[in-house]
Amino acid sequence: MQDELQARAAHLDGIRARAEAEMQAIGITQPAIDRLVETFYSRIRSHDTLGPVFEARLAGRWDEHLPKMKRFWSSIAFKNGAYGGKPVQAHLGMDGMQETLFADWLQLFGKTVGDLFPDERARAWYMQTAERIARSLILSLFYNPAMDDTSLKISR
Ligand code: HEM
Repeated sequence: MQDELQARAAHLDGIRARAEAEMQAIGITQPAIDRLVETFYSRIRSHDTLGPVFEARLAGRWDEHLPKMKRFWSSIAFKNGAYGGKPVQAHLGMDGMQETLFADWLQLFGKTVGDLFPDERARAWYMQTAERIARSLILSLFYNPAMDDTSLKISR
């Protein structure tokens, strides 16, 4: 049992070390993530459509949001378990939330990543990751699986 636990811990250490090395090779380090999060959310706050939606929810709480988002990106990049929240629940019941805002979010994120990361592979990694999560948030927030359930269709 002890051996199994040790083997598992060593396996996880290996996964993390590999992830960190892969990210490092394309310029994604913890300080680079910190800078991205700080720059992106400072741009969000002065953005025409996104600013008011964020401000309505985060006024007086930005100091906790930024470290959380740094942990979020760190946990995806380095597979280190730094973030343990529930993104879908966090986006529920937001005043002014609309599906079209996700395009604005992705555009601003893409611009910020482009400004900060010279390596094309880093840009691609960020955008693929953000688009995947955005798609999954959009599905959870705006689509009801019952709409696609043909057995629930009322025949006319
Ligand atoms: C229209 C687009 C979006 C809006 C308006 C939005 C807004 C927000 C707001 C206001 C919060 C703070 C919630 C709270 O603490 O009460 C939040 C949290 C968060 N957002 Fe978004 N968001 C958007 C898209 C995204 C995308 C595309 C991602 C991922 C790539 C993302 C990841 C997160 C995460 C991880 C949190 C923290 C959740 C937690 O509390 O654990 N968001 N978002």
